[in-house]
Amino acid sequence: MKIIIINGPNLNLLGKREPEHYGHLSFMEFLEKLRKKYPQVEVEHFQSNIEGEIIDKIQETGFKYDGIILNAAAYTHTSIGIGDAVKAVKTPVVEVHISNVYAREEERQKSFIAPYVKGIVIGFGLKSYELALRAFLED
Ligand code: DQA
Repeated sequence: MKIIIINGPNLNLLGKREPEHYGHLSFMEFLEKLRKKYPQVEVEHFQSNIEGEIIDKIQETGFKYDGIILNAAAYTHTSIGIGDAVKAVKTPVVEVHISNVYAREEERQKSFIAPYVKGIVIGFGLKSYELALRAFLED
């Protein structure tokens, strides 16, 4: 099984950025653990701060991979283009958020991606990514 985790803007700063929302672990530390725990899954990772690069990656992997785990970060709440890309591809997408966006500012409570995804995992910290992975594994 081949899965890609696509992370959007500022998620390269995990571990350093607002630890009260996003915890103390860097994404690479977390990813190493995840890959060790699920050796049967090929887990690729892509992070970009640039909207078009995220769209390119969704298009590139969205007809080849078994699953996309997408945390589009702030673009979740602004990007019709990323929503359209998710709608366009064949690979199922699970939307993920580390923090509980519904317990935060109002502008975080709108997702342009949500209507087109298979499901959403929100608010479990970095474990949200693992739960999304398990959703693909147990499907
Ligand atoms: C986030 C929530 C977004 O509102 C925010 O802009 C992020 C991260 C999360 O994982 O909790 O950058 O997607």
